[in-house]
Amino acid sequence: MTTTVGIVGATGAVGQRFVQMLENHPFFEIGVVTASDDSAGRPYREAAKWRVNTPIPDDVGDLTVRATDPDEIPDDVDLLFSSLPSSVAAEVEPPLCEAGFVVSSNSSNDRMAEDVPLVIPEINADHMGLLDVQRDERGWDGALIKNPNCSTITMVPTLAGVDRFGIESVHVATLQAVSGAGYDGVTSMEIIDNALPHIGGEEEKMESESRKLLGEFGGGEVRLHDMAVSASCNRVATLDGHLENVWADLAEDATPADVAEAMREVPSIDLPSSPDPLVTVFEEPDRPQPRLDRMLGDGMGVAAGGIQATPGGVKYNCLAHNTIRGAAGASVLNGELLVEDGWV
Ligand SMILES: NC(=O)c1ccc[n+]([C@@H]2O[C@H](COP(=O)([O-])OP(=O)(O)OC[C@H]3O[C@@H](n4cnc5c(N)ncnc54)[C@H](OP(=O)(O)O)[C@@H]3O)[C@@H](O)[C@H]2O)c1
Repeated sequence: MTTTVGIVGATGAVGQRFVQMLENHPFFEIGVVTASDDSAGRPYREAAKWRVNTPIPDDVGDLTVRATDPDEIPDDVDLLFSSLPSSVAAEVEPPLCEAGFVVSSNSSNDRMAEDVPLVIPEINADHMGLLDVQRDERGWDGALIKNPNCSTITMVPTLAGVDRFGIESVHVATLQAVSGAGYDGVTSMEIIDNALPHIGGEEEKMESESRKLLGEFGGGEVRLHDMAVSASCNRVATLDGHLENVWADLAEDATPADVAEAMREVPSIDLPSSPDPLVTVFEEPDRPQPRLDRMLGDGMGVAAGGIQATPGGVKYNCLAHNTIRGAAGASVLNGELLVEDGWV
C-alpha cells in the first residue's frame, strides 16, 4: 500500500532532492508540497528554481504550493518530510505533530532533545523507540524524528565500524560542499578561489550528534557515547559531497586492515534506500574524492579511504553526498523505517 506524503520546504535545495528521490518510490507518493508565503499559491514548477539533474516529475510540477500551516495539509497525508530553515522548523514542526502528522525532519532544531529520535537506520534504528516517550510526554498524535546534520552523517557510519576497537576520542576536519549552505547560502564572490574556515554551528552539531547516534538506547532514554569529539568545519568550492579527515584514538590495538574490515562490515538495512554496501572502503590513497565518489549507492553510500595507523589509533578520510545521504535521502530512509516499524 502506498503512503501519501508531503514535503514542507519543498522548493529549496533539499526539498528538490525529496521530490527527485520520491519519484517512483515503492512506499510513498507526494500529495502536497509547501514553502514560504512567497511561493504559496504558485505551481511548483514555477515556484521552485529547479536545479537537480533530472526533470521535475509532471505530477509534482503541476501541484500548487501551499503555505506551511497544519490547516493547509490534507487529511490523507500520513507523513511529512521537512526541509525548512531550522528557525522556521522550530516554530512549525511542533504544531504539525500536534495536529497528528508524523514529521521526518532534516532541520537541526530539537535533534538533541531527549525525547526526539535522531536516527540513521543502519546504525541506531532501535532509537526510534523514543517515540513512545515523546508521545507520552508531549501528548501528540503525530511524532517528530530527526536525521543528523550532513557532516555528522558522513562520519558516523565509519565510526560505527571503528568503535569495535573502543573509540576514546575523535578529531575531524571537514571540507564541505557549497550546496550544504542552501542556494542562497554562499555567494560566488565568497567561495571562488577561496575556502571558508568557519560554518556557524556546524562543529557543535558534529560534536554532540555523533555521541547521541552512537549512544545506547535503554528503553526510556539515550545514554550518549562517552567519546570526546572535536570538529573543525570548512566550506570549500565543491558543489556536492562532504569530504572529511578523521583521527580516532582507540582503546584497543587495530591495524588499518582491521579497521577497513570493520567499516566494510557495518551492515545496510533491508529498506529501499539503504545501499549495500553501506561503507565502501578504497585501497587507493587518493580516494574517496567528491566528484568521483559522491554518487556511490545512488548518493546514499558512504566512502572511506586512506586508513593509516597513528600513535593513538587510526586516521582516515570519508565522504558522502550531503543533500542525498546527508539530507533528503536520510529523511526518506527514516520515513521507510517509520513505515516498516508501524509508526505510520
Ligand atoms: N543543504 C544541505 O546539504 C543540508 C543538509 C542537511 C540539512 N539541511 C537542512 O535542511 C534545511 C533546508 O535546507 P536547504 O539547503 O534546502 O535550504 P533552502 O534551499 O534555503 O530552502 C528552504 C526551504 O524552506 C522554505 N522556507 C523558507 N522560509 C520559510 C518560512 N518562513 N515558512 C515556510 N517555508 C519557508 C523555502 O521556501 P521558499 O522557496 O518559498 O522561500 C524553501 O522551500 C535546513 O534546515 C538545513 O540546515 C541542509
